[in-house]
Amino acid sequence: MMVEGTRWRRVDDDRLAGLAEGQLLRVVVKERPLCFVRMNGELRALADRCPHQGKPLSGGWCDDGHVVCPYHRFHFDPVTGKARHGVCSNVEVFPLEQRQDGLYIGFPYTTFRVFGIDLW
Ligand code: FES
Repeated sequence: MMVEGTRWRRVDDDRLAGLAEGQLLRVVVKERPLCFVRMNGELRALADRCPHQGKPLSGGWCDDGHVVCPYHRFHFDPVTGKARHGVCSNVEVFPLEQRQDGLYIGFPYTTFRVFGIDLW
C-alpha cells in the first residue's frame, strides 16, 4: 500500500541562529537547496526554487510578510507557500522543529509499504 510520511533531518548550519528578521539564507540540507527566512520572529523554510522559472528565492528579499523572488518579483507567503494573487504555483514549504539536539526540517515522502517495510 502507498503511505505518506515525513522524514526529519537535522539542519547543521550555525548561521541560522543569527538570522535577522526579514533576512534570507540559502542552506542545503540532504542535497536540497532551501531558503530560510525569519519572519515575525519565527524561522521558516521554503524550497530555494521559485515555482515560476526555477530561480533561487534566497537572492530576494522580504516585503509585507512575503518572500519576494528577485527575478520577476512574485511574492510568496513563507508560512503557506502561497503565491500572492495566485500569479503562479505555490512554493513548497517545510515544517521545522527545534529539538534538544538542534533544528530539524521535515521532508514529506511517499512510498510503498510491503509487510510493514517501506521500500524507499
Ligand atoms: S523566476 Fe521567480 S518570479 Fe520569475
